[in-house]
Amino acid sequence: MSLDSTIENLLRKGHGLLAADESLTTLHKRFAANGIEPTTENRRAWRDLLVSTPGISQFISGVILYEETLEQRTQEGELIPQTLAHSGIEVGIKVDHGTKSFAGHAPELLTEGLDGLRERLVHFHDLGATFAKWRAVYSITKSTPTQVTLIENARTLARYALSCQEAGLVPIVEPEVLMDGDHDQATCAIVSEAVLHSVFEALTFYKVKLETLLLKPNMVLPGQDSKLHPDPGTTAQETLSILRRSVPAAVPGICFLSGGQSETGATANLDALNRINGNAPWALSFSFARALQNSAMHIWSGKPEKRIEAQTQFSHRAQLNSLAAQGLYDVHMEAT
Ligand code: 13P
Repeated sequence: MSLDSTIENLLRKGHGLLAADESLTTLHKRFAANGIEPTTENRRAWRDLLVSTPGISQFISGVILYEETLEQRTQEGELIPQTLAHSGIEVGIKVDHGTKSFAGHAPELLTEGLDGLRERLVHFHDLGATFAKWRAVYSITKSTPTQVTLIENARTLARYALSCQEAGLVPIVEPEVLMDGDHDQATCAIVSEAVLHSVFEALTFYKVKLETLLLKPNMVLPGQDSKLHPDPGTTAQETLSILRRSVPAAVPGICFLSGGQSETGATANLDALNRINGNAPWALSFSFARALQNSAMHIWSGKPEKRIEAQTQFSHRAQLNSLAAQGLYDVHMEAT
């Protein structure tokens, strides 16, 4: 499949992405919070539950998987990537190896995984992946992010994106400004804009084709410890203004991460972005992990008898986000 047709499928109207690509450590933390044993079988069962949810392809056009899931099977015995492909859902793969402390610049983090990436991409493509994801993180403190961290992360994202396009996979470029801290919304806007400028400067410098990548940024939000709660309209305005200044119109789509927002908060903000998008040149959709999975995982709690109830909850959240991606969500729909 060509990069263009993958993009077209991913950006179908009223569709978004599910990020089910948590590393073992991250997924086990989420399991622990719900009393779920950190076993290979529970990881398989959880991801099987998500991808086997009836009708999910009405709302989800792509699922980002973690490497081990590519070779795991559903309870019916089908390989998980095949289950996705059979329902017209694109198979994505997280290809970074996570973050490590930046030597000489702690506590800042750099994302690793470029070594051997070209060969791994060929392997993932053979296993059915059509798109990939790489996440860089930036934390807001009085002294961070530093200029050198911006430059290093941007270059790494650009090299990753080039390798993906070469291997026939659509790169999702994810520069995430974290919500940790007590900063205000204006500070997040300034930092996020600087990050996006650095990323697009590098993407252009390395000659990454902007038409065949997707951006996965944070929304512009105050820090989690700030006690500030801007309304969705304000968040959407703040987010759109920095995107307009920094993201070229050639980029076809922006699929936001949820970043630790509540499920309803992330949906309401995505809805506001689409209601007031003006003439935004890009599709505005979602690529959520926590904001799609949290309540469903809580219901499931590792119990096979809760599988269907958890799938119903996951499907409901996916549907609400599908509506939000079209500016058609209403908070009263939460109850139905
Ligand atoms: P959240 O939606 O939970 O922020 O996760 C998105 C993601 O893929 C992080 O890399």
